[in-house]
Amino acid sequence: MANHSWLIAHFSPTGTTVKVARAIAQGAPWTAREVDLSAPVEAQTVGPDEVLLAAMPVFGGRVPAVALERLAQLRGSGQKAVAVVVYGNRAYDDALLELSDALEENGFQVLAAAAFIAEHSIVRSIAAGRPDQKDLALASEFGAMVSKKAGMESQTGGVETAKKLPIPGNPGYRDKKKGGSGAHPSAAETCIKCGLCANSCPVSAIPPEDPSQTDPQKCINCGRCVKICPENARSLPKTMLLAVEGMLKMTASKPKQPELFI
Ligand SMILES: Cc1cc2nc3c(=O)[nH]c(=O)nc-3n(C[C@H](O)[C@H](O)[C@H](O)COP(=O)(O)O)c2cc1C
Repeated sequence: MANHSWLIAHFSPTGTTVKVARAIAQGAPWTAREVDLSAPVEAQTVGPDEVLLAAMPVFGGRVPAVALERLAQLRGSGQKAVAVVVYGNRAYDDALLELSDALEENGFQVLAAAAFIAEHSIVRSIAAGRPDQKDLALASEFGAMVSKKAGMESQTGGVETAKKLPIPGNPGYRDKKKGGSGAHPSAAETCIKCGLCANSCPVSAIPPEDPSQTDPQKCINCGRCVKICPENARSLPKTMLLAVEGMLKMTASKPKQPELFI
């Protein structure tokens, strides 16, 4: 009988995705180690009984390219994996399919997948307070279901993982370019140049010598610098925020529920 453990690989600029991932992991009676994909990752081997829990936010209906690049440093040779996306109550579109496909391309067998909801990291009044206790309890239940399935799979030789999970999404996503907004956060005069944003930017888009700047070529608009700034000095341009808020009020106001594929 395999002695499973978790390898949690998370990309979570504003902290909601990692919260969901840890709640899932807690549902299984396994030990866990974590790889933070919000910083560069070295190539590393995955143990034969490690179950990779890959968790990412949805950006523009897809998963962030940089997160997938770093995830590819974890190569599998038939180990089990779980794909999880977290989205801001609008839609996850092709993101879960894209993550699941990437895991298979990296050498894993996708045992289960799920989409959870969290506060929208651009307009934080959308789905505020999510994931809530109910979401996190369901996440743990999902983790328990995964551990049960992994145990059964080990006994039956992987009959269930050979079945394709009915993950929604348009396989044509590969032909579509990932979108960017063009606008990026900048700092107001209240910036005290403490450098916290520069040090924690997942793509090093903020120069430590002048954190009031943002490199538009590198910035992926993940929202981390805006959320962590102790002076609330960083923000997106007001016009962009108002436009996104207007769109989200129409498309993301009604609370959505997590979806599990197992
Ligand atoms: C650039 C960007 C694009 C986003 N696109 C979507 C989207 O297409 N659909 C959606 O429902 N939420 C979207 N969101 C919201 C995030 O998916 C959501 O807030 C997520 O919980 C953020 O995860 P984190 O807290 O781990 O950073 C987007 C957020 C950002 C910053």
